Amino acid sequence: MTYKLATKFMRVLPPEAAHRATLRALRLGLGPHYRCAPACLQTELAGLSLPNPVGLAAGFDKDAEVPDAMLRAGFGFVECGSVTPRPQKGNPKPRLFRLARDKAVINRMGFNNKGLDNFAKNLRKAKHKGIIGANLGANKDSADRVADYITGLERLWGMCDYFTINISSPNTPGLRDLQGGDALEDLLGRIAEARQSLTGENPSPPVLLKVAPDLDLTQIERITEASRTYGMSGLIVSNTTISRPAGLKGTAREESGGLSGKPLLSLSTRILREFYEATKGQIPLIGVGGIADAGDAYTKIRAGASAVQLYSALVYQGPGLVRRICKGLEGRLKADGVSHISEAVGSL
Ligand code: FNR
Repeated sequence: MTYKLATKFMRVLPPEAAHRATLRALRLGLGPHYRCAPACLQTELAGLSLPNPVGLAAGFDKDAEVPDAMLRAGFGFVECGSVTPRPQKGNPKPRLFRLARDKAVINRMGFNNKGLDNFAKNLRKAKHKGIIGANLGANKDSADRVADYITGLERLWGMCDYFTINISSPNTPGLRDLQGGDALEDLLGRIAEARQSLTGENPSPPVLLKVAPDLDLTQIERITEASRTYGMSGLIVSNTTISRPAGLKGTAREESGGLSGKPLLSLSTRILREFYEATKGQIPLIGVGGIADAGDAYTKIRAGASAVQLYSALVYQGPGLVRRICKGLEGRLKADGVSHISEAVGSL
């Protein structure tokens, strides 16, 4: 009840102010405490053991300020970032818009973050009572964006449980070009080399690639092929969309940037399904985009996701959502006579 009221109150504030207030409250320990790890939901993703398959998507905690609080709220894993090597301010405000009637968000934040040194300092302070990933980005003015991802790996190696290479933000001009052709080969080749040289006695942590939902089948097949060739550990499908599905009601629908939340659900799930078919289930997938309840999460899993992530629905429903999704997933498995979540992956 308290969290429902707090979430309603936050929605009265302008979106970025509400987000800052939420992070402050979480830092003060005012978030919910919920442990969700029933045997039927405990699962594996690219060698990581997750207490449940519901993760926090990147962008909520760009500077790794509150990973412990979000793990305490019940998330099975938490992805911090995107972080760029050097701090950057991001795009001019306003740059974050709620489309309340569509249960959606448009953002053109532009990788506002305090940089790798600050991120590393925060990770060092974290208790790490759960899986924490670092989502890496590139500085807008970087002359060699691939080098920025390598710098991220080098700086944070050994400090987090997995890495995500984010080449799908629509708010850094040209970034999405890394998803295709020679640029993709160059990126993945150099990441593979870096992993090899960073890996000492211990195996490399998983390194995943996060892709856009605005891809055609040929692009999906090329990304799959290159990911296989260069040993990527998994794919996160997807980031926000630059498309604007018909029927959006919110007055902010014409704002430029990436759209997330409910209207992204069907597009991102279709792309997820296409990646599942292209990868033949051999590369683990994380399904993201528009998840607002257990039914949405279950649909993503049945479309081929081994785990899921969400962000925008938190804006409308608050952190109690994780508990509801976990409970709902347990119920769905029971109703379908499925004994473990992994058996549902790709069953659609
Ligand atoms: C994002 N997202 C995002 N993704 C990423 O890889 N790096 C980032 O820095 C951000 N930043 C960001 C800011 C804001 C305000 C939003 C709403 C989203 C994308 C996010 O992780 C996710 O992929 C999409 O939002 C789709 O999931 P939801 O929000 O529909 O559950």
